[in-house]
Amino acid sequence: MMSARPVVIAVDGPAAAGKGTLARGLADRLGFAYLDTGLLYRAVGAKVLDRGGDPADPAVAAAIARALKPGDLESAGLRDDRAAAAASRVAAIPAVRSALLDFQRDFAAQPPDAAPGAVIDGRDIGTVVCPDAAVKLFITASARVRAARRLRELRGRGLSVSAATVLREMAARDARDAGRTVAPLKPAADAWCLDTSDLGPNTVLSLALAVVEQRQFA
Ligand code: DC
Repeated sequence: MMSARPVVIAVDGPAAAGKGTLARGLADRLGFAYLDTGLLYRAVGAKVLDRGGDPADPAVAAAIARALKPGDLESAGLRDDRAAAAASRVAAIPAVRSALLDFQRDFAAQPPDAAPGAVIDGRDIGTVVCPDAAVKLFITASARVRAARRLRELRGRGLSVSAATVLREMAARDARDAGRTVAPLKPAADAWCLDTSDLGPNTVLSLALAVVEQRQFA
């Protein structure tokens, strides 16, 4: 007997909108595997910088993307803004995106540990990586709220940064991610969109679970 195709839940949205928290929460509640695709781009961006390269150089970035190993996703510093800014630069290079596509699609088709589904978060999961996802969520929040969340997170990790720097870097990253020609950040036509500016993580999770139940078995 053929086993059922894994259920895919796509969670897209801009930086610090609450995608990661929601995606991890959904994966936990549903017993699904979780993939943070931002980590793939961060790992490529960080490696380019570590080798003294320019993240906007297509040849260097694409070669690193093609040679990326699962262990590279464990490197220290991938959560820092240095890696985030480099990630957003390598992410605008079509050859980098296509080199990372198979890894993401394989994860969706065969989630680790034979999980019955996968929750995948990023910028283009519902539009490009898994356009047939059973459920597509697009999570956003105002730039002010997202910058405040990011500031709290960075300071919580002991980093000394100013609110103005965080807001400026986030605006630059938003503009690059939404303005690039290849797979720009935008909601899929059939995505369920939620602004989390005034909502806590538990409320967001409950609302998303209700959507998943409705869509998955419709
Ligand atoms: O989700 P994140 O902040 O970790 O992502 C870091 C950068 O990687 C983001 O600014 C844009 C890029 N990215 C992308 O282009 N496509 C994805 N699916 C995930 C991330």
